[in-house]
Amino acid sequence: MRDELINIKNIAVSFILDAQDKKTLEEVRMQFLGRSGKLTIAMKNIIKVPIEDRRDIGQLANEIKRIVEEAINQKIQTLTKFITEERRSKIDLSIPGILPEIGHLHPMTQILYDVVDVFKTIGFQAADGPEIESDYYNFEVLNIPKNHPARDTQQTFYLNTRDTNLNPGEIILRTQTSAMQGRVMEKTKPPLRVIVPGKNFRYEQVDASHGFEFWQVEGFCVDKHIRLTDLFGTISFVLGKLMGDKTKIKFATTNFPFVEPGVDTYIECTVCKGKGCSFCKNSGWSEIMPAGMIHPNVLRKVGYDPQEVSGFAFAIGMSRLVTLRYKMDDLRLLTNPDLRILEQF
Ligand code: DAH
Repeated sequence: MRDELINIKNIAVSFILDAQDKKTLEEVRMQFLGRSGKLTIAMKNIIKVPIEDRRDIGQLANEIKRIVEEAINQKIQTLTKFITEERRSKIDLSIPGILPEIGHLHPMTQILYDVVDVFKTIGFQAADGPEIESDYYNFEVLNIPKNHPARDTQQTFYLNTRDTNLNPGEIILRTQTSAMQGRVMEKTKPPLRVIVPGKNFRYEQVDASHGFEFWQVEGFCVDKHIRLTDLFGTISFVLGKLMGDKTKIKFATTNFPFVEPGVDTYIECTVCKGKGCSFCKNSGWSEIMPAGMIHPNVLRKVGYDPQEVSGFAFAIGMSRLVTLRYKMDDLRLLTNPDLRILEQF
């Protein structure tokens, strides 16, 4: 039995030393130390050894088991070291690295920054306001009382007021950044020049030129002696900077309850250069900036005296500005997650 054990040890150790990889080493371990491994079985047979020798043989077997296990552990370490060294010697430090991909600003954000920059040069400050808004600031203060037909044009998302002490319909997602007129004017004395870039929401059918969520930059200016020509001058200056000095602009009258008179600003369609195409509905012009002189009722509601001060307001449809600048014919491209689209800007 003693010879048999020593023999097993010698074979095991030589196999271990010969192993070239971890897989072979694992096989050797199973062959000797596994459940039906040679050493395991030999140890089970110790019971058959005459009682007077059993203790010595038992100690020898335990010693051999320890030697084999240690040999395996050492070999694992040698193999691991060998692999890392081999790998290291294969790294070619002269190969240029792979640069991580770096993103860039979304076209909408790029133009938004441009818009804010242009307005800053003529003294406008940017303000931010809540997207969850009250009926009061979104409509009432803007001379759009309950049941006013102008509310029909602003398909409104109403928020649930069930578990609150608010009346149903009182809290909404703002439909227009004009909602900030009341908030700012109530707290600020004229003169003031403010722009409000922000998101608005309307329950609209989504198509190539409408989204249920859209960006506007609202702007307003109040001071003594502000006239319609100040509005025209401001809009012409801003659009010239944003779309190029040669861009043709025209104004037409329109109606919004919070302005009197109301005007619509059109720029020559950049897609067809005024010839008429599907983007401009064959008119050659694109509506880009509704505006007007702030209605005396709005001025009164925020505590101003319409005899003392006057003002103008306007809104830039941001997505329109983006599609016109980049000659895109579908607004939905701006929110499409396919990077091949965004990478073009
Ligand atoms: N808030 C209006 C809308 O989203 C647009 C608008 C019209 C804003 C005239 C103005 C304005 O400031 O003067 O439909």
